[in-house]
Amino acid sequence: MKMRKGIVLAGGTGSRLFPMTTAVSKQLMPVFDKPMIYYPISVLMQAGIQDILMITTPHDQVQFQKLLGDGSQWGINIEWAVQPSPDGLAQALIIAEDFLDGAPSALILGDNLYFGAGFSQTLKSAQDNQNGATIFGYQVRDPSRYGVVGFDGDGKVTSLIEKPDHPASNYAVTGLYFYDPHAPEYARSVKPSERGELEITALNDIYLQCGELQVEFLDDGTTWLDTGTPRSLLAAAQFVSVIEERQGLRICCPEVEAFRQGWITSEQLLALAKQLRKSGYGSFLARIAAAG
Ligand code: TTP
Repeated sequence: MKMRKGIVLAGGTGSRLFPMTTAVSKQLMPVFDKPMIYYPISVLMQAGIQDILMITTPHDQVQFQKLLGDGSQWGINIEWAVQPSPDGLAQALIIAEDFLDGAPSALILGDNLYFGAGFSQTLKSAQDNQNGATIFGYQVRDPSRYGVVGFDGDGKVTSLIEKPDHPASNYAVTGLYFYDPHAPEYARSVKPSERGELEITALNDIYLQCGELQVEFLDDGTTWLDTGTPRSLLAAAQFVSVIEERQGLRICCPEVEAFRQGWITSEQLLALAKQLRKSGYGSFLARIAAAG
């Protein structure tokens, strides 16, 4: 089996954040002290994934490249693709088909943020599961905004419905999906929905119908946030700020994740810190490098 590759989907219109996103991609907006896109990239790195395809809109790609380059500064390989128009999340697998080249994948949305002590373990078990697809359920107050998981009396997953008027449960499907090598082929068979999108829920439903869908539930200790509206963007920034101030550390830093994984040395981490030395972020990286 080939090594799993990562896909970050960071296109879209960000229309709920207009006019903030009229000139700048949503995923380049700050979430407290770092660009939003750092959060999903650090999740893929936490899962041990070093080969990543970044999908952006055609007009935002240059800005993302200025920020991330080819990933070598973090010991990873970043390749680039565009989604010409926001035709749905499942299109990411079709765009990524050549990049994946028969490898299993992990797709993450560019505006999703995950944090929690047990989350690494959850990622590890998804990474180890080579067959079918693994998606992640999270209890929310307002499931109608998301894909929703339905269960039978034994807790077995029986349905996945996109933005239902009458949700079958309070469990939303979050923006992280692990797939076996069949995903691009299945995604090509998905027909556009009423709103004209290739729905990720339709792709996941193909796995469910084959009996090959695993749903992992994120526990209470894990936080999942998206940042699609002004209020949720502010809430995410406040969350990060509270955790970081309280604990005196920084969360979801790709540089630190690269160092933890042994993909860069403490000297390389220090060099990255020096480029950012006027910010608290840079001082934090220098501290981690010094602690070895
Ligand atoms: P959404 O929040 O559903 O869409 P959006 O980002 O365009 O925002 P809005 O609804 O306010 O217009 O998208 C979730 C994530 O997926 C986000 O990171 C953007 C990305 N995305 C794409 O890259 N391509 C797409 O076709 C869609 C629908 C979303």
